[in-house]
Amino acid sequence: MTATPTTPAVAARDRVIIFDTTMRDGEQSPGASMSLEEKLELAKILEEMKVDVIEAGFPIASNGDFEAVREIAKIVTESTICGLARAGLGDIDRAAEAIKPAKRGRIHTFISTSPVHMKWKLQMEPEAVLEMVTKSVTHARNLCGDVEWSAEDATRTERDFLRRCVEAAIRAGAQTINIPDTVGYTYPSEYEALFRDLIENVPGADGVIFSTHCHNDLGLAVANSLAGLQGGARQVEAAINGMGERAGNAALEEVVMALKVRGDKLPFGTGIDTTQITRASRYVSAITGFPVQFNKAIVGKNAFAHESGIHQDGMLKNAETYEIMLPADVGQGATSLVMGKHSGRHAFREKLKALGYELGQNALNEAFVRFKDLADKKKHVFDDDLIALVDDALASGSDRIQVKSLKVIAGTEGPQQADLTVTIDGEERSASATGDGPVDAVFNAIHEAVPHEAILRLFQVHAVTEGTDAQAQVSVRLEEDGRIATGQAADTDTLTASAKAYVNALNNLFARKEKSAPEGRIASGF
Ligand code: KIV
Ligand code: ZN
Repeated sequence: MTATPTTPAVAARDRVIIFDTTMRDGEQSPGASMSLEEKLELAKILEEMKVDVIEAGFPIASNGDFEAVREIAKIVTESTICGLARAGLGDIDRAAEAIKPAKRGRIHTFISTSPVHMKWKLQMEPEAVLEMVTKSVTHARNLCGDVEWSAEDATRTERDFLRRCVEAAIRAGAQTINIPDTVGYTYPSEYEALFRDLIENVPGADGVIFSTHCHNDLGLAVANSLAGLQGGARQVEAAINGMGERAGNAALEEVVMALKVRGDKLPFGTGIDTTQITRASRYVSAITGFPVQFNKAIVGKNAFAHESGIHQDGMLKNAETYEIMLPADVGQGATSLVMGKHSGRHAFREKLKALGYELGQNALNEAFVRFKDLADKKKHVFDDDLIALVDDALASGSDRIQVKSLKVIAGTEGPQQADLTVTIDGEERSASATGDGPVDAVFNAIHEAVPHEAILRLFQVHAVTEGTDAQAQVSVRLEEDGRIATGQAADTDTLTASAKAYVNALNNLFARKEKSAPEGRIASGF
């Protein structure tokens, strides 16, 4: 079976620019913050996936965001690196500074144009907003050859005013005009007509690229993005796994695969290497602690699973009966039952490669040791086990605090008790604590060993595979002084996974605190 039998040749199709905003709008999902190292790794994955533009952050928002954009700008050479800025000149200067090292850099500046935003958020008159459009884009163009302008809340903006703002941005030198559906309010035919209107009626519109940016409040973000393309847009802003403010942004993988599979109706091509999609999705899920829903299109665990007898029978006769694309098209390995305790390092490396992981020698060695450990405890090691194991190794590899040993007394006769030993920079520290249940006892013991003020915001457990020997994958989210950090771990022992996930979240939180502390290292905590 070919994956896209009805798709016209790429050359015959219009090229759509794929703009990824996982690290900017995606990171605005409450609790989804990513560390610098995680962002650098994600940027490399997006570059390998051949994303055209990576919006790497909002440089004025924090020193961390500034640094992330600048560091990404240094290492990515194939994709354009974009920094977001409000219309203020200080914002734009900061974005320009952050993208300076980029081979290809872009400033993305925006201002609200809807009546409700101008009145309540900006407290500005429309004419003053219009002036700001010209001023901000002109300033950005003086600093960077590639400028994108967005009309925030465009879909609730009075049409005539929106046309005037777009015209002003084009005159001032913006080459990309983004028309965001900021609150996820529009619907496909309306959004398509909006692009048609702007492209037909705004002077200079034929010389710029129009862009979609859709939020998913009504579950229409992908449909609206595709409709925007039918209306003439040629850039789509989207995020991996649909991450983003509130209900999220258009899911990048869904937009890209819709374009690939339905080339007959949507005659547009992208440059995306779709075989990298699963890898990117898993990585984003691992670092943010946002699980991908099982039935999520394209990247959900069940997206290519066939459960009913009738479907399975059809699939065995011909996969086209129930599959409109191949799992391999999105980088999903074909096998599910894999390795055992006799599998060697070479087979292990090849298997990880098929699952989308290319590890350096040290990380591979560490993952292999963990795999052997797991294979000793667990009869069958499935693909999902390996994914959990590698994500766990990647998440905790450089952690300063590590769980060394844990003993828990649980059961009907309370109080439940946990005896824990951790190492902090190699030095051992032990603690015992009781709690209202074994997990509470474990977390209290961590508190004893590593005093901290963070509050637990999320504790989530799910079984990686079926069976009572399945690994538990645990996500923990902690918050302290408005800073949020997520940790993840997997283990066949749920309590061990819980302890490791909590400690991983603590490490991430402390790392963030260290970065923002004036002397570079926190006094409290350890
Ligand atoms: O949703 C939105 O309007 C945005 C803009 C900043 C582009 O994210
Ligand atoms: Zn947005």
